[in-house]
Amino acid sequence: MSAAPNPRVAAPAENRGNDRFLNASVIADPVRYRRWRADKLKRARGCLAQPVVEVGDPAHLTAAELSALRERVEAVNFALYRTAAAFDHLALKRLCRQAGLARLVANPFAEASGISEIRAAARGQSRRAYIPYSNRALDWHTDGYYHPPGRPINGFALHTVRAAPRGGANQLLDHEILYLLLRDRAPALAACLFADDVLTIPPGTGADGARRPAQTGPVFWVCGGRLQMRFTLRQRHICWKESPQVRAVLAEIKSILNDPDSPLMLTRRLRAGEGIICNNVLHNRAAFTVPADGQPGRLVLRARFYDRIGFNGEGGGA
Ligand SMILES: [Fe+2]
Repeated sequence: MSAAPNPRVAAPAENRGNDRFLNASVIADPVRYRRWRADKLKRARGCLAQPVVEVGDPAHLTAAELSALRERVEAVNFALYRTAAAFDHLALKRLCRQAGLARLVANPFAEASGISEIRAAARGQSRRAYIPYSNRALDWHTDGYYHPPGRPINGFALHTVRAAPRGGANQLLDHEILYLLLRDRAPALAACLFADDVLTIPPGTGADGARRPAQTGPVFWVCGGRLQMRFTLRQRHICWKESPQVRAVLAEIKSILNDPDSPLMLTRRLRAGEGIICNNVLHNRAAFTVPADGQPGRLVLRARFYDRIGFNGEGGGA
């Protein structure tokens, strides 16, 4: 393993000396990076073996519940929870707010609350054309990768109201771990993803019918002292920078994401009452079945935010 300092990443003075988090100065300093890497792998492996956080009242988390969620988010940028309490849009908002997720980003299909109800749309509904609103598999991505780089989605939450009869499992991979694995394989390739012209979403028409200009930006960047990522594995309506390095790094990413035996990836079929809060980590969704007898099918509440997770008010900004 060797260093991959990146000239596009400034090192904020306030982060110097803190090697617990993958900030700009840790990325740029090989000695500190090696320290961070060893600590990260240890904490991630320990965290992925831990049980889901049981939550009594989502609107009023206890100190112990907050601490358990925080420990997991610090280790792998996401946390799974489970609650038996009654749950609605307001409960999800309250849960998220206690984790520092406050600035909600609604899409055109969101409900009045700003939260989206993700389910397989009925025939004739326009949203059926969008894969999240179908029962088809969703490939690896971070949420809102088509947003302007200046207004990224930094956190989101998913809450399962009803699971599908079969299928619908999610896989999750902390984007810091993807960076680590890429840098292990090819430091220069990991560094090229910080270029601000590496990924372009061509102009198109949004779900609201409005024209969307092309969005060009990096895959990795450091914001508020932490690594963020913008990515999709989809092939259509995506323009990657034409270069041998970018082609090579995409092949490495695919091989990492398609490794079914990765101990650093979480695969889980969320049950009713279970959810995830995260700093917009990489994720996918398997195809799922829709009840043939007219019973209500899989329903997941989704809330997206400009904020990162930040407990006790720290680190929650974009
Ligand atoms: Fe997503």
